[in-house]
Amino acid sequence: MTVADRSWAEKFAARTRGGVGGGLASILALAGDKKAIPFAGGFPDPSTFPEHELTDLVRGIIDANDSSALQYAPTGGLPGPLDYISGRLGANEGRTPTDGELMITSGTIEALELAGKAFLDPGDLVMVEAPTYLGAIMAFKSFQADLEALPMDEGGLQIEALEASLADGRIPKLLYTIPDHQNPGGVSLVADRRERLVELARRYGFVIVEDVAYRELSFHGATGACLWALGPDVVVQAGTFSKLFFPGVRLGWAAGPPEIVSQLVLAKQNTDQCAGALGQRLLEDYGRRGLLDRQIELSCELYRQRCDLMLAALGEHMPNGVSWTRPRGGFFSWVTLPPGLDAAELAVVAQSRGVTFVPGAPFFPDGRGADNLRLSYSRVEDHLISEGVRRLAAVIEEATGRSRGGES
Ligand SMILES: Cc1ncc(COP(=O)(O)O)c(C=O)c1O
Repeated sequence: MTVADRSWAEKFAARTRGGVGGGLASILALAGDKKAIPFAGGFPDPSTFPEHELTDLVRGIIDANDSSALQYAPTGGLPGPLDYISGRLGANEGRTPTDGELMITSGTIEALELAGKAFLDPGDLVMVEAPTYLGAIMAFKSFQADLEALPMDEGGLQIEALEASLADGRIPKLLYTIPDHQNPGGVSLVADRRERLVELARRYGFVIVEDVAYRELSFHGATGACLWALGPDVVVQAGTFSKLFFPGVRLGWAAGPPEIVSQLVLAKQNTDQCAGALGQRLLEDYGRRGLLDRQIELSCELYRQRCDLMLAALGEHMPNGVSWTRPRGGFFSWVTLPPGLDAAELAVVAQSRGVTFVPGAPFFPDGRGADNLRLSYSRVEDHLISEGVRRLAAVIEEATGRSRGGES
């Protein structure tokens, strides 16, 4: 064998085989098609990024001669930023983390990785609502966990289905959920289900991993108490500043029982040791000046308008037999196609007509979702939304015609 022929794939660890790693990268690739109208990718709109303020903030930090911003940080986070995030949680959620309940992470995806590292042995059971965030599926699968998909409806995770699994003796170590403006479903968990979920975690002894990536991007008021405030003894909340500040800063938090948080901090020591100190200090200064809250208000306004435009366009253009969710926050609407259509095939045709979306299958851990697709309105300029939906509707209509033709 020559060096050029050699493949290293057989040497890769078993846990990395089987396509676990490619999902997010292929979505990022679709989202990167500059010519198409981009309904793929859950990206915040760059117009929300605080470019001008950042210049001042960086200068202020450097001028203050505070070397902590350029130094390694403690693994759990710098004291000032921790105090700032803690204060925000207290103000927003009515519960301030007590000692050892909070850490700073390099984004939510890292918090999920740390939870996997701290809790999961091969074959352990993790429950997820389905469809769900692809990054979470990838993170848990990379620890060779068994994933059980729980059904959802317009009120979020169906608690009866969870209860039935638990009563059958299937008790997960972790249950992962996105209660607010879910990715990709665009729905939120209704209030009474939140209480019941926490109660079940206590009764059966499992940890809820609550992902609040879109919680603060609510268009019509709050969705309900966060699970962590309802059950700080059984919930690890993973939050992110990616959609609120900017994703390039790679910052988030994990809040949970001190025993768990200290295990996550231990796991973080040999992932990246600490989240970047400069980003932590920028976040703190930006936030303490009231600028983050202002940015969130403006972002909500922008995304609410785009969401309304998309819902109006879907109503106007989509052929009979297509349905979609009606988000009240976040970035996504989840579309169900007429039976027999394959969203992955449509994605190729749609891209050739200048519109991209993400087909549904990667959002299920068990291969369902062929007749679903996710539309993200967050990064599509207002004037392109209707045109994008029109193009997509035409692709669906043609495929429906072909599939009916094939049946007759
Ligand atoms: C539900 C959910 N959680 C987490 C993330 C990623 O967060 P971060 O950028 O902090 O890793 C995303 C981003 O798409 C998301 O949709």
